Amino acid sequence: MAATRVTVADGPALVLAGYEGEPLRSLASYQAAGGYEQLAQARAQDPQQVIGEIIESNLRGRGGAFFPTGRKASFIPTPDKIAKPIYITVNADESEPGTFKDREIMLKVPHRLIEGCLIAAHAIQSRNVYIYIRGEYLAEWESLQGALDEARAAGILGEVDIVIHRGAGAYICGEETALLESLEGKRGQPRSKPPFPAISGVYASPTLINNVESITTIPAVLATGPAEYAKIGAPPDSTGTRLFCLSGNVERPGVYEAPHGITARHLIYDIGGGVPDGRELKAVMMGGSSFPVMTPGDLDTALDANSLGQKGYFIGSGVVTVIDDRSCIVQFALRVAQFYMHESCGKCTPCRVGTRWLVQILRAVENGTAQERDLELLLDVCDRIIGKCLCVLGDSAAMPVASCVTKFREEFRAHLAQGGCPFGGDSTLDHLFAPVDQHAHTPVAQEALS
Ligand SMILES: Cc1cc2nc3c(=O)[nH]c(=O)nc-3n(C[C@H](O)[C@H](O)[C@H](O)COP(=O)(O)O)c2cc1C
Ligand code: SF4
Repeated sequence: MAATRVTVADGPALVLAGYEGEPLRSLASYQAAGGYEQLAQARAQDPQQVIGEIIESNLRGRGGAFFPTGRKASFIPTPDKIAKPIYITVNADESEPGTFKDREIMLKVPHRLIEGCLIAAHAIQSRNVYIYIRGEYLAEWESLQGALDEARAAGILGEVDIVIHRGAGAYICGEETALLESLEGKRGQPRSKPPFPAISGVYASPTLINNVESITTIPAVLATGPAEYAKIGAPPDSTGTRLFCLSGNVERPGVYEAPHGITARHLIYDIGGGVPDGRELKAVMMGGSSFPVMTPGDLDTALDANSLGQKGYFIGSGVVTVIDDRSCIVQFALRVAQFYMHESCGKCTPCRVGTRWLVQILRAVENGTAQERDLELLLDVCDRIIGKCLCVLGDSAAMPVASCVTKFREEFRAHLAQGGCPFGGDSTLDHLFAPVDQHAHTPVAQEALS
């Protein structure tokens, strides 16, 4: 597999600071780039002051929900208020289709993630950090474990212990409460909330859960200064930079660190080189596979939460996957639905049954055996899923499918009129979405089976 292009575009290098083509994997290389200086400064501060600085920066979660990181940390009770250990769990499950930024952090700047963990541990007065890493991420795990071993040997961890826990390859284990269940050795299924993890997380103890990129941004926030950081990007709500995951039918795919607020068009055409082979852009999988698809008329939307939100889109985990005019949108919707059907944990009925219905109806549309009323049925099934499930996975299946039906209804109708796919065998979803039956099983799962 070709190496992923990882570059800073259009703005300050924050998460990727110091990375100029050569990974900062060794402790010496990271320290030469100013690494662990912010940890020393944070440890000299009162923990509440550190939380105050993260709040001031208005850093928000990079895992998908965009929740304010400092506020979440402030929900964790202080040790004098609770006689239980306090935990941090870093979400390195990274399974959202189209997302491949956390892996690059762990490969390119693993010590910055560790520094972020240690600063967060100081801020919430925790001595126990788990990093839950996706099972398929073997090289990433080795890179991170190597950095952790070196930091530990150098005495940088102090009284904090960091443990890397490898998952076994389930998308649902990225959902924070399913992750906690899995970490405790149970079946990875979401818990009912409340109580929220800040009060009752790992082993029923207060737990701060954050995405890899969120935690890795903390040293950058402190290095920049929270007030200055809050001016970068699209303040006041979408501050700082993002690691945008640009992929699909685009000339120069890769992970690009750029400020919030650049437009989708600028990212795709100027930074990414546009759509190859003179093809037309047909749609963009925006934010991740869990969200409504973007149509070409909205390409000038700024990539920040508010601007996207006004048009019904989500920034999600920074995904921008380009779909060109060779791709059948019904096939795309079918593959998305198949993915969620495959990954549904089965705990609640609308998701378990609804995703199967979506696949069945979409398959009939693709084969040309569906009727006009089946398009309404598709939307009705989506409606019966959205907002009616225990976790957001159900909505994540229904929202993109509903958006494809409403925004590309003529293409759906063409399937019905022609009795099959108008693209024949020519539609290509190459570089976009592997069919579910091609999903590789993880080395961990294979070990368990043998
Ligand atoms: C089905 C599902 C899968 C998710 N997968 C991930 C994931 O792989 N990585 C991640 O950071 N967050 C994922 N999330 C979001 C987490 O539940 C949680 O909001 C996030 O880890 C919080 O970190 P943040 O506040 O730093 O974004 C997922 C959510 C759902 C519903
Ligand atoms: S929405 Fe789906 S994945 Fe989430 S708890 Fe229900 S069945 Fe499981």
